[in-house]
Amino acid sequence: MKILVLNGPNLNLLGTRENEYYGNQSLDEIIKNTKSKLKLIKPDVVLEHTQSNSEAVLVEHIQQASKAGFSGIIINPGAYSHTSVALLDALRQTPLYKIEVHLSQVYQREDFRQQLLTAKAANTIMTGLGGLVYYIAALAIIEKIKDV
Ligand code: DQA
Repeated sequence: MKILVLNGPNLNLLGTRENEYYGNQSLDEIIKNTKSKLKLIKPDVVLEHTQSNSEAVLVEHIQQASKAGFSGIIINPGAYSHTSVALLDALRQTPLYKIEVHLSQVYQREDFRQQLLTAKAANTIMTGLGGLVYYIAALAIIEKIKDV
């Protein structure tokens, strides 16, 4: 089973950006930890990760995900979560199981962060778990897909 992990704008700056919200780990460290934890209990699951600051690149990845053999998508659209109709539409057209994740607890932050537009297309959302969220989301996708 392959799961696509997509991270949106400014998440490449994790570790140096607003650490009080996003923690001290870099995105590379978070993804590396997620992969190694997952490997221990689900060695057959492959996580493929892409980060992009470009909305268009994220849309392309979502559009191709099903054809490329992925079973699910974990997406942190970053600031696009609050604004992007293009990502919402792309997520809606894919039949894959989708989890939108946020490192910070967006419901304890500014009002505009509490509007999650892209989340309307997600099967569920997970928010406020820090870097751990990618691992928990991967486990959730694996369990949910088993039931289908
Ligand atoms: C974020 C929350 C967004 O509001 C913000 O723009 C981000 C990160 C999070 O992971 O907590 O870039 O998606």
